[in-house]
Amino acid sequence: MFMQNGSSLAENKRFEVRSLEISDYRKGFIQLLQQLTVCDSVSDEQFRERFEELKASGDDHVICVIEDGQSGKIIATGSVFVEKKFLRNCGKVGHIEDVVIDSNARGMQLGKKIVGFLTDHAHSRGCYKVILDCSVENRPFYEKCGFKQKEVQMVKYFI
Ligand SMILES: CC(C)(COP(=O)(O)OP(=O)(O)OC[C@H]1O[C@@H](n2cnc3c(N)ncnc32)[C@H](O)[C@@H]1OP(=O)(O)O)[C@@H](O)C(=O)NCCC(=O)NCCS
Repeated sequence: MFMQNGSSLAENKRFEVRSLEISDYRKGFIQLLQQLTVCDSVSDEQFRERFEELKASGDDHVICVIEDGQSGKIIATGSVFVEKKFLRNCGKVGHIEDVVIDSNARGMQLGKKIVGFLTDHAHSRGCYKVILDCSVENRPFYEKCGFKQKEVQMVKYFI
């Protein structure tokens, strides 16, 4: 089989990145998010409502997924939203969030594929940079994706 960036064409087809679709609710999308952090069950109606809200942002808020072409399950996801600023000549910044790969599919370059897709999207929307927060453990992964550490994250929780 012809190899492309270390992956066969069959593999590339099996693990294509695409935008979230409403039918992904039934394909394990929420269960995948539950592997990342606290994510209570989301009803069909709640999912639909949030999906439509996000859709209204068009290309400025994208959630991408990889559906395993064999099992039909969602096995990878990540999101990016575009922040519009006054700084930097009314510049734009991409924020990557909620990157998670199914525990059975890690180490197959899918994380890199998802982050690459989100980064390219931010670039194509005219962002001058793309940023994200991550744990110390995940720093080497993001370095492999071309990111470098800068400053520190601060947070205040309301719940
Ligand atoms: C972190 C995570 C997204 C990585 O996804 P993945 O699909 O397993 O990673 P990939 O296979 O694309 O790895 C790409 C490269 O990073 C390396 N890498 C991945 N995770 C790593 C880690 N924790 N430490 C060191 N290197 C790592 C891989 O070895 C690979 O190196 P290579 O290109 O030289 O072969 C995945 O482990 C995950 O979903 N973790 C749980 C959720 C999470 O922490 N998400 C991040 C929120 S910020």
